[in-house]
Amino acid sequence: MRRTEDKSLVARRLAAALTLAVGAALAAATAAGGCGKKDARPAVRFLEGPDSGGGWKEILARFKAVHPEIDVELVEGPAATNTREDMYATALLSGDTTYDVVYMDVIWVPKFAAQGWLLPLDERLPPAEREKFLPGDMRGSTWEGRVYRVPMQSDAGMLYYRTDLLAEPPETFDALVESAGRLQQPPGLWGFVFQGRQYEGLVCGFLEILWGHGGDVLDAQGRVVLDSPEGVQALTWMAGLVKRIAPEGVATYQEEEARHVFQEGHAVFMRNWPYAWTLAQAVDSPVRGKVGICPMVHAQGRASAATLGGWGFGIAKKARHPDAAWTFLSFATQPEQMKLLHFKNGAIPARRELFKDPEIVAKSPHYPDLYRVLLAARPRPVHPAYARISDALQVHVSAALVGTETPEAAIRAAAERIREAVGR
Ligand code: GLC
Repeated sequence: MRRTEDKSLVARRLAAALTLAVGAALAAATAAGGCGKKDARPAVRFLEGPDSGGGWKEILARFKAVHPEIDVELVEGPAATNTREDMYATALLSGDTTYDVVYMDVIWVPKFAAQGWLLPLDERLPPAEREKFLPGDMRGSTWEGRVYRVPMQSDAGMLYYRTDLLAEPPETFDALVESAGRLQQPPGLWGFVFQGRQYEGLVCGFLEILWGHGGDVLDAQGRVVLDSPEGVQALTWMAGLVKRIAPEGVATYQEEEARHVFQEGHAVFMRNWPYAWTLAQAVDSPVRGKVGICPMVHAQGRASAATLGGWGFGIAKKARHPDAAWTFLSFATQPEQMKLLHFKNGAIPARRELFKDPEIVAKSPHYPDLYRVLLAARPRPVHPAYARISDALQVHVSAALVGTETPEAAIRAAAERIREAVGR
């Protein structure tokens, strides 16, 4: 336990150090480019993950062509959402203006809004405009009745399978283990890969397993109910995957590691977000044309659950040019830009109309089904202390996966820490 907790501390320190390093580099670049001008910084700067497909760069180029007067800078940060959250939080907490636009994961909104770090966007985004986005994304952009985020990408966890290896995907946890065990031939072909590293992605996958067993973290009154028999069953099932149908290394995987293993043809099943489907269909992908995508499995007599993910733009309260920031983010969230990010980076558009877009549906025939999964996707606990709730889950789910805690002990310890975090 010590070791895993230390890891989470190290990750936070690393994020803070990264923030300082990025801040110093940006300040140096500003000074170098200053040439006596008053403020040579771009009007709008935001932090995102690695722009693997190049979609963001193209959006920025398109924007520059129509708005040459507004300079926008994209800082490509680390892939893990919680590391970027720490980087934004460090900057926003200290009141500096490194980032004007905050590209936010859906889970950051309650904390960032409650801290007063964001500008409310209600007036800029009237109700008729909000209707155009997926309802879950819009709900996740709202805190205490005010809108703080304009959705760009939607997300929901899905199960991937190889259509050349099995005709029908499994529906239950037992059936997944059975067919993965039957079809796998390790080490060349493993049964199942997922996000097993100690970070936010692990929580997303765990929640789908927890919900699929009928458990939950908090009940409708906000009380912690994680340490239920269903909670223990869920973690027992998940921990039992490692070395049986999942490689030991799965405990270090984020989204991209899982995708690479699956896309190279080394896994029968994968849990991932829908972006991986588009990338798996690339012309040079070894599994092109052999990939099916369906809702996550569930326990007998229970229903599938997908974790709601997704990303969108907020404006920092201290943004130097909020109007320029708004001009940029309203451009970036137009349908043409969402389509570009979909085709280049696999991002799922957050606008409803795009799920019927002929160009998108021609390339991604599962989009109408995906739409239904997105509508039913469940949010992670909506709480300003979500980061602490997630931290507790990250530490103890990871400990169960690597075998340093039993599932029972891990669930009990996580529940205790979550009780402290939510104060009940
Ligand atoms: C995806 C989701 C995001 C989630 C993250 C976890 O980016 O959109 O909501 O927190 O994965 O790794």
